[in-house]
Amino acid sequence: MSAIVIVGAQWGDEGKGKATDILGGKVDYVVKPNGGNNAGHTVVVGGEKYELKLLPAGVLSENAVPILGNGVVVNLEALFEEIDGLVARGADATRLRISGNAHMVAPYHQTLDRVQERFLGKRAIGTTGRGIGPTYADKVARVGLRVQDIFDESILRQKIESALDVKNQMLVKMYNRRAIEADEMMDYFMGYAERLKPMVIDAEYTLNKALDEGKHVLMEGGQATMLDVDHGTYPFVTSSNPTAGGACVGSGIGPTRITASLGIVKAYTTRVGAGPFPTELFDKWGDYLQTVGGEVGVNTGRKRRCGWYDSVIARYAARVNGFTDFFLTKLDVLTGIGEIPICVAYDVDGQRFDEMPLTQSQFHHAEPIYETMPAWDEDISEITDFDDLPQKAKDYVNRLEELSGAPMSYIGVGPGRDQTIVRNDVMER
Ligand code: GDP
Ligand code: IMO
Ligand code: MG
Repeated sequence: MSAIVIVGAQWGDEGKGKATDILGGKVDYVVKPNGGNNAGHTVVVGGEKYELKLLPAGVLSENAVPILGNGVVVNLEALFEEIDGLVARGADATRLRISGNAHMVAPYHQTLDRVQERFLGKRAIGTTGRGIGPTYADKVARVGLRVQDIFDESILRQKIESALDVKNQMLVKMYNRRAIEADEMMDYFMGYAERLKPMVIDAEYTLNKALDEGKHVLMEGGQATMLDVDHGTYPFVTSSNPTAGGACVGSGIGPTRITASLGIVKAYTTRVGAGPFPTELFDKWGDYLQTVGGEVGVNTGRKRRCGWYDSVIARYAARVNGFTDFFLTKLDVLTGIGEIPICVAYDVDGQRFDEMPLTQSQFHHAEPIYETMPAWDEDISEITDFDDLPQKAKDYVNRLEELSGAPMSYIGVGPGRDQTIVRNDVMER
């Protein structure tokens, strides 16, 4: 029995999709515990590239059952578009199941996301515009719509009507938008009902029963620690808990069952959207990482902001998530760059901080304190054994490990499934 949770250790796009793909071949279930179609997880198999937004990357695993957990917010239009796109490419999505407790994104959530961002002006969060924040807000305010509501039309209508009572006031009076009719929403949701119904399950029961039977479950988190609504750079965060504890809540798997907490971390740092980012680069090296690393957001096509590895954040993520291991990705991108700065601490208005400062204002003023290591020049993209890496690459990884609070058990040396060095397999424990 194993229950492995995959968590982004930075601001997202660390390579969670690739990590899932590698482990997904060995597990029985891959559950997505949080987020929605704001994610973008890339998997490269045999030269074919797949970009998953709402579905877990585990949908591409040969035998695993992919599940959208109760903590996910599901956009039905996006769901079926994604399924159809995969099927057209020969993938099999028939095993996909969805928790009846997951919430549904309504078209008005998307409208609100966009107008609210526009009203924030310079203070905008830079959301993906997918309605994620407003859907989670409704969930917490107890006026959300759940997947199970499609089984009872009259309940669904009542819920839509009471949500629209307030939403229409906001849309019309505050944001100068047109009011939405309940009939229109009923048509939207019920239009998907017959296709959706066979996929809906009690995901918590299914997953726990599987664990009872000694099976293996992978929890594929979306987003990342620094985007967590509690632990991230609030308010420049997403509206869910993408941390390891959130994965338990979002799947119904209790914390005592987790056998490994695997933090995915890039050999440098990136961020999409607004918010503080201490190691961000505005010089030629920022452009270099962006170009050579191919750092373009999967979801919105925005260029990712780039900076050096920040070990203060890695240590913080290791603590918050209880990481047993790290999966270091994109080491190959640093080949041949001469010197590699690593942020070891911050200078905040003249004071040194070895750990995350207490307040948002301090974090906004944090200047990285760097130490520098020499880079290697040899091509490492075909290496599969840690011992075969150039000494300088080993030294860099070992230093990151020392600074970051958990062993670097996997090292990515390219986007492909096989371009991974496995030092300590989390499945073999
Ligand atoms: P996710 O959101 O965490 O799943 O990450 P994304 O898929 O958004 O972004 C990660 C990108 O890095 C994708 O394009 C991956 O194909 C790519 N990638 C993952 N691991 C490696 C690696 O070790 N080396 C290189 N060069 N690319 C990688
Ligand atoms: P994966 O799973 C990177 C960012 C957005 C924005 C903020 C809030 O691919 O790592 P939202 O639409 O969620 O309300 O936007 O969070 N964001 C991501 N950044 N990777 C992601 O997912 C992200 N999901 C959300 O850019 O700054
Ligand atoms: Mg991504």
